[in-house]
Amino acid sequence: MTRHFLNLSDAGGDAVRAMLDDALRRKQQRLQMPKGAADADAPLAGHTLAMIFEKNSTRTRVSFDMAMRQLGGGTIVMESGSTQLGRGETIADTARVLSRFVDAIMIRTDDHQKIVDLARYATVPVINGLTDDSHPCQIMADLLTVMERRGGLAGTRWAWLGDGNNVLHSIIEAASLMDFSVSVGCPAGYDPSIEVVEAARKLGAAVDIIRDPAKAVAGADVVVTDTWISMGQSHAEEKLRTLEPYQVTPAIMAAAAADALFLHCLPAHRGEEVVDAVIDGPQSAVWDEAENRLHAQKSVLLWALGKLG
Ligand code: CP
Ligand code: NVA
Repeated sequence: MTRHFLNLSDAGGDAVRAMLDDALRRKQQRLQMPKGAADADAPLAGHTLAMIFEKNSTRTRVSFDMAMRQLGGGTIVMESGSTQLGRGETIADTARVLSRFVDAIMIRTDDHQKIVDLARYATVPVINGLTDDSHPCQIMADLLTVMERRGGLAGTRWAWLGDGNNVLHSIIEAASLMDFSVSVGCPAGYDPSIEVVEAARKLGAAVDIIRDPAKAVAGADVVVTDTWISMGQSHAEEKLRTLEPYQVTPAIMAAAAADALFLHCLPAHRGEEVVDAVIDGPQSAVWDEAENRLHAQKSVLLWALGKLG
């Protein structure tokens, strides 16, 4: 069976735990090494990852590229607009062809169905680098960051403030696999997908939707937010106004646990979903979180290519 990573549940809780443990171990082992040097075991020597981008990216692009270098392999970056995909070649045919050239494919796209189709026709692993529905690689980095800072995930209380988007969907999915709770503070009309919430609840996760932002973060160990306007959405003044009460401010952080962490996948829209005093403040873990994209994705690549778990 080809191991695709379209969502966290493709791997399951045990494999996610194994990936996070491996990521922590590899991160520790290369503290003094130059960033482009390969890990001592170079487990993906000779392997190539193709990366298809149908949307902008800074972190995903650089972290996957460096991840492959550190694992001893290489990458090919494909901006979809300059490939035949951009001229209408089908996803299925692209999957068939790329599978003959490379060992794995990472794609960032809009409609989630495109990555499902890519995985269906590819004979090599396909990894989700963000779709309109989910962002599992980001959440692997978030889980790693909370593990490092808190020593574990089980029983932690996470609060999300803002738009019920792709990043939140992957957090909710993670809650059901890793045994933590999510309290979602968002206005009516901006809820996460009810299917995602119900699937997590069915697996035993506590996921609550709370309209009052201060109540949503009360006692939380982790406070998370993201842009109010995701890529592909049109800039809507009304949406910005509706979400204003959900801005993460020092007053909001004060309603969470005293030692709560602040996370944001980045890029941040300072002055919209978060203010400088929080993202640059002592509770913010966003730079570790960004770095952890690299470490977490190395382990995702190793899992997908059958070298782990
Ligand atoms: N967080 C994240 O996915 O960042 P990029 O859009 O820069 O890849
Ligand atoms: N929700 C954001 C995440 C960016 C990394 C988006 O989809 O644009």
